[in-house]
Order: sequence, then structure tokens, then C-alpha cells
Amino acid sequence: MTYKIAVIKGDGVGKEVIEEGMKVLDVVAERYGFSIDWREFPFGAEHYLKTGEVLNDSSLKELGKSDVIYLGALGDPRVKPGILEKGVLLKIRFGFDEFINLRPVRLLPTISSPLQGKEPRDINFDVVRENTEDFYVGMGGRTKREKQHETLSIIRELYKAKFDLDVETDSEEIAYQIGVLSREGCRRVITYAFDLCSSRGGKRVTSVDKANVLTDIYGLWRDVFEEVASEYPSIEYEFNYVDAVTMYFTTNPERFDVVVAPNMFGDIITDLGAAIQGGIGLAASGNINPDGISMFEPVHGSAPDIAGRNIANPIAAILAGGLMLRTLGENKAADSIENAIKTVLSSGKVRTPDLGGRSRCTEMGDAISREIE
Ligand code: IPM
Ligand code: MG
Repeated sequence: MTYKIAVIKGDGVGKEVIEEGMKVLDVVAERYGFSIDWREFPFGAEHYLKTGEVLNDSSLKELGKSDVIYLGALGDPRVKPGILEKGVLLKIRFGFDEFINLRPVRLLPTISSPLQGKEPRDINFDVVRENTEDFYVGMGGRTKREKQHETLSIIRELYKAKFDLDVETDSEEIAYQIGVLSREGCRRVITYAFDLCSSRGGKRVTSVDKANVLTDIYGLWRDVFEEVASEYPSIEYEFNYVDAVTMYFTTNPERFDVVVAPNMFGDIITDLGAAIQGGIGLAASGNINPDGISMFEPVHGSAPDIAGRNIANPIAAILAGGLMLRTLGENKAADSIENAIKTVLSSGKVRTPDLGGRSRCTEMGDAISREIE
């Protein structure tokens, strides 16, 4: 079996950590009897600064010829915020309708959580973030004019929606952003969360929203959540407001099995999730379309301040590679990666600076590879 994997190393430490991920995946592939045909794509800041291109439709098609996509990180101080994020990352997430953003939150052995006294068994849950809707749909505007007409639209495989807006204001300038959720969009991601809860033998699914203020958008979310929940009578459920859930992440992380959240709140709480599992260098993420092309990446960004120094922690990227193999059905290989990481951490010899050590990024990749071998 040969898997075609598109690789976008991207910017900053993205390049460094993905190279370690590729190293480990090649070793695990050899060991478990499959191979990987890596196809590199140059998208990111360098490419944009050189060519003015982010990622066009034909490149998207090209990416779609692979089985999965492996991404480092995007972002560069020379490029205005939003260009690469929307032009590459969100373009892929939306373009391949990767509606699930799976972000496991697990405290690994020997890693100290900033939460005092917490053990790996206390911090072990999955956040399922909706990945295509909400305030991420990119519909909004700014106007300084008294009257303005705007047509905004959202085009998805699942549905289309169009807004004709007559904006009238006497303000100096107003700005607005429209968030959209659809019944179909909510249902598919909430269903995934309940299925995930059953498959991990979990007890409870927690819904995150702000239905006490944003009553329309998250009112729909809650309605759909309740409908889906009623189809899983053996799984408990609860609603948490997003502000409260940040508190429970820090006071009672053991209460969570699967947490399902709309896109923007999911973004925010998964950085907190990464923090409580010991740092952003350890948090992996899968942008999943169960019937399409999925993309795997570390949760962290390009970290320009430490880029090029071979000191980034590649564990998040390597774990993302493991998640990728699991999605491809290579469960033994994925287990082997996770176990190797645990063993290396437990031995305590190789630790990158974020974990209080002095090891290099490449040394961590080597140690994990050796362990798998
Ligand atoms: C993430 C990131 C992205 C997001 C940015 C870079 C667009 O923060 O993957 O969590 O907001 O989804
Ligand atoms: Mg984020």
C-alpha cells in the first residue's frame, strides 16, 4: 500500500517540525509495511512574496489528487495577517469541506500541566470543533458611507446562502461580520462528536455555545444538538456557555470526554486545551472530511521568534502525523507513534526547550524514530 500525501511545510518552524514528522512517518511506514509518496507544495509566505499567489483553484485541485494533506504552519511577519490564513489554510479547510476539526487534549507522561496535581488520566478528552461555518465564513464589511448596498454570499457543497444588505448609518464608520450556521452543518459535526464519544467509551458530550446572548445562531446549534443527543440515549450531555467552559477546563478537566463547539469558540478553547496539556508544542489537530480529503497539522503557528534555530518541539506535528495515519486506517502505526513519544518523554533524556530541556528539534525526531525502529 502506498499513500499519496501532499505536504505543505509552510512558514517558520512549520518547515522544521514537518521534516521531523516526515522522518518519523517514513520509519513507521517501513515498520508496518506501507509506503508514502510525499508530494511537496510550496504554499506559504515565501511563495506568496515571490509570486503574489496564495493558493488558487487549480492548486487546490492538485492537492486533491493526494489521499491526505500534511501541513506545518502558516504566517510570517512580512505578510499582513489574514492573507495566508484565509488564502491557504481556510481555503483548504473549506475547499475540501473538512467540517471536523478534531483536537485531542491529552496530558502525556512526565509533562507537567500548569494545572497543579493533574495526571494523564485527568486530562484526556477530545474537542470536536466545527470547521466550516460560524464567524469564519468570511462575510462582513465596513462602511463609512450613509448608504451602501452589499451582496454577501456563502457557497458550500452542503448549501448556498445569499444576503442582500442595505446598510445605512450616520456613524463615522461601522463594521459588521455575519456568522452563519446551518442545520445540516450543525448536525454532521454534532453527530460525529456523539459517535466519537461512543467509540472512545466516553460517558458525556459537552456542547459549547453562547446561546444566552447570540440567541439565533447558537439557538439553532442547541436545537440540533438536542435532536442528535436524543438519538444516543446511553450518552449523557450537557450545555456549557463558552465562558464557563474555559473555567471548567482549568478547574475540572476530568469531567470532559468529548466537547463539541462551533468554529470560533472551538478555536479559542483549543488553545486553552493545548495549554493545560502542557503547551502548544504538544497539541495536534486533524481537519477531517470523513468522505474526502483531510488535512493534519499541529495546533501551533509558525513561531517566527524561534524559527530557523532547530529548537521547536516537533511532537505536535508528529502526533498530527499519527492522527493522519489513524484516519487512513493504519491504527497500529498510529499507536506505535504515540507509544514511542510516551517512551521518549518518560526516559527524560530528550526534551526540547519548551519542556525544560536543551534538545534540538531534530534530536526529538531522531529519538522518536529510533524508538519506533
Ligand atoms: C487554528 C488557527 C487558525 C484558526 C488561524 C491561523 C486561521 O488559529 O488553526 O486554530 O483560527 O482556525
Ligand atoms: Mg487557533
